[in-house]
Amino acid sequence: MGACRPRPRVDSSRLASQVLRPRKWTTEETRWPFDWATPPPNFDADSTAGPINFHDYLGDGWGVLFSHPKDYTPVCTTELGTVAGLKSEFDKRNVKVVGVSVDSLQEHKGWAGDILDVTGHALNFPLVADPDRTVAGLYDMIHPNADNTLTVRSVFVIGPNKDVKLTLTYPAATGRNFDEILRVIDSLQRTANHKVATPADWKPGEDVIIVPSLSDAQAHEIFGDFETVKPYLRKTRDPA
Ligand code: BEZ
Repeated sequence: MGACRPRPRVDSSRLASQVLRPRKWTTEETRWPFDWATPPPNFDADSTAGPINFHDYLGDGWGVLFSHPKDYTPVCTTELGTVAGLKSEFDKRNVKVVGVSVDSLQEHKGWAGDILDVTGHALNFPLVADPDRTVAGLYDMIHPNADNTLTVRSVFVIGPNKDVKLTLTYPAATGRNFDEILRVIDSLQRTANHKVATPADWKPGEDVIIVPSLSDAQAHEIFGDFETVKPYLRKTRDPA
């Protein structure tokens, strides 16, 4: 397989039923003008785990797509080893992680040896080869005022319906905190499945907030007892 190939932006029956205007990508049109209503672009690419079709790879589970400025760079080396070490935590949450870096598959494979040496973790998730920066363009990962051969550190958390749940953008020189990304996923999965929100600095096991749209009577029916801190701030046990 050669370079990455963008897929039409809208391609599932769920999305076809929405009032979106599907159109084909052209080779010139490679930037994703992000908005929360637009599904994350699909692509075919080579990766360290073999060729992947991004949407097929995610299936109906959760996904994290995260970019790296370049192979054989120090911060990225630590980040990829860290994510490999956390793979079982992502698996537990039904989340597939996919890294992307703007270098060739051959370079990725060579770099994987260094990642193992440095961090003790072998790459155990796909690292997409994006030498022509197709994926970086689709996801707008290139900073317009910085080196246009490198990506910033983007993170996209994608829900099971192929909707973007969260985006983060870090500069190249600042490594990300992947425990925080797992914490956010824990919150996203609670709030997707229960009528709750999570407070500042919340961690799994701590009390959650009952969404304000529920009346007290409805909240009692769903959660039983709860604590009323203010009429609009009601707390209950972590439903997980
Ligand atoms: C790094 O991964 O170490 C890095 C990459 C680009 C700029 C600065 C640091």
